[in-house]
Amino acid sequence: EKGGFDSFMDKEIHDQPQAVADTLRGRTDASGALVLDDLRIDESVLRAVNKIIVVACGTAAYSGHVAKYAIEHWCRIPVEVELAHEFRYRDPIVDEKTLVVAVTQSGETMDTLMAVRHAREQGAKVISIVNTHGSTIPRESDAVLYTHAGPEIAVASTKAFLAQITAAYLLGLYLAQLRGNKFPDEISTLLDDLRDMPRKIQTVIERGEYVRATARSMEDSDKVLFLGRHVGFPVALEGALKLKELAYIHAEGFAAGELKHGPIALIDEGQPVFVVVPSPRGRDSLHSKIISNIQEIRARGARTLVIAEDGDDAVRGYADEIFWIPKAPTLLQPLLAVVPLQIFAMALATAKGLDVDQPRNLAKSVTVE
Ligand code: F6R
Repeated sequence: EKGGFDSFMDKEIHDQPQAVADTLRGRTDASGALVLDDLRIDESVLRAVNKIIVVACGTAAYSGHVAKYAIEHWCRIPVEVELAHEFRYRDPIVDEKTLVVAVTQSGETMDTLMAVRHAREQGAKVISIVNTHGSTIPRESDAVLYTHAGPEIAVASTKAFLAQITAAYLLGLYLAQLRGNKFPDEISTLLDDLRDMPRKIQTVIERGEYVRATARSMEDSDKVLFLGRHVGFPVALEGALKLKELAYIHAEGFAAGELKHGPIALIDEGQPVFVVVPSPRGRDSLHSKIISNIQEIRARGARTLVIAEDGDDAVRGYADEIFWIPKAPTLLQPLLAVVPLQIFAMALATAKGLDVDQPRNLAKSVTVE
């Protein structure tokens, strides 16, 4: 049931704080150490892993793309993210020391299933991150880490995406703990930060009306661009995918650093561009880099729609619209930054009179290759 919302998608967006909280629940023992009980792979095997490959499709692949930044940072294991259908047909280098992580809401995506089978044939261990109990992919995996997002009915994925990021982060922290990359107190601080996210996601949802109003004023857009850096890059890709599939608008996400290597030629007067701005408190001058990117596109006439952290006054001078999100550690920001993009796509599609739960040409689970 839609629980009083206009669409399943709207309901599922509102379910997101719960989906993240439920995915985190029950994952630590009395001493506070992470325990992932569905993980039936020998610890010695997990300690020996020298490469992780995430295989998935669509939105699920973007969750892997986000997790890559965190897992590499925490575990110092190289992580590749590959679309399952590309992985399957390119003779990938996979062996007993490769951990393949298959991410899927339905657990039935044929492309992902074929990648899982192929990886296991080559001797790799497969952990699947799955939302649907009793589905095929967890049965064919060595281990499963369930996301507890509850049933996702709307074709466009929302709460499963946040739950997938959460589960992949838990896996990353678990591996860091097991392999001794992090001290127990560092892990527990990171877990506390994660447990703080549902409340912050709720805040973003409560601020949704401004996003909806902006979307309604943009009903006639025929092209929308999305920019991000670091973990904001896959968020930009996901924002573009949501807009394509729901509102049938040509949308594209770019790594902001890539602008001057081509895409900036697309910018003309009035071109809407979403920009995901990283925390100004983060390291590596990411923030100032993206501010320069905003200046560059603005100078060429772009209409900038900026997602920024509360208190980030530096963006005010460059943004036509600002969608504020609560402060969070850089690696956790995607759980917040994607929410206005989901709401935007839903509201724009609704303004165009489209069915947001059942976009044309799409099915909830893609069980053919
Ligand atoms: C986009 C969307 C799809 C799915 C993709 C994978 O909103 O829902 O891109 O993410 O088809 O599906 P699962 O996760 O079921 O394997």
